[in-house]
Amino acid sequence: MGRRLSGPIGVYDSGFGGLSVLRELRRTLPTHDFVYLGDSGRAPYGGRDVHTILDMAEQCVERLFHEGCAVVVVACHTVSSVALRHLQRRYGAGERRVLGVTIPAAECAVGVTRGHIGLLGTARTVASGTFATEVHKLSGARVTELAAPLLAPIVEEGWEETEVARAAVRRYVHALGAVDTLVLGCTHYPLLRQAFEGALGPEVTLLDPAPFVARRLADWLERHPGFATPGTGRLRALSTGDPERFAQLGERFLGEPLHEVEYVAEVDGRLVPTTRVVHVGQVVR
Ligand code: DGL
Repeated sequence: MGRRLSGPIGVYDSGFGGLSVLRELRRTLPTHDFVYLGDSGRAPYGGRDVHTILDMAEQCVERLFHEGCAVVVVACHTVSSVALRHLQRRYGAGERRVLGVTIPAAECAVGVTRGHIGLLGTARTVASGTFATEVHKLSGARVTELAAPLLAPIVEEGWEETEVARAAVRRYVHALGAVDTLVLGCTHYPLLRQAFEGALGPEVTLLDPAPFVARRLADWLERHPGFATPGTGRLRALSTGDPERFAQLGERFLGEPLHEVEYVAEVDGRLVPTTRVVHVGQVVR
């Protein structure tokens, strides 16, 4: 099989949230180069229908291939749950691969649970039932999934440390019932860690799958060395939404400043094939 040598790792998310996954990927693979595409102009995906998500996911993954990535990590739980198999069948052979977050999340949860795993995620993630399917391939653990649609907007407002956030998290945790392991099944939720820790009893293990996703990617790259080799730790950030807002919000998810965001315009539901570099502070729309 012919493989490209080198190239950055592509990371795709519906918007900003995947930067919380990228943060762990960069921590684990500090010398690798990354290209992140956040489809923030069309986010949130979590309440959208499956066909729309498949279409937008194809466009974004193709775009990352076009930017020189041979491997793309779908950091978004919603896309991973509903579109990963489709993307892998369509692109995931030979010189290009698409990886997701749902299987690593399931493996990680199975590794720590004492029998009852809970997952909070978007309505689409929960409706897909993909997480439970993946858990049940590995174990007989019980799985309870619940949509928590208020939490991502709370994080985007920057309200993680407010009583609003704590009350919303408490209600979802209460509605989930007596699980022993709680998986944060949406890329926004790691920013609510404090609110979750306050709402959960000491007997519940809180699981952010992102560090595990990063370790799995590092293992995968060792087994598939031609897909991305270490570079200089460079990060390019591309967004279909307002780059200034992307940089401002993104910093909180990534844990470091985004000085430059490339704008990918969308015309008639398609991504245009060029990017425009936008230095933060320059408003484009
Ligand atoms: N990134 C999405 C996820 O992890 C959440 C945001 C959205 O609904 O687009 O499921």
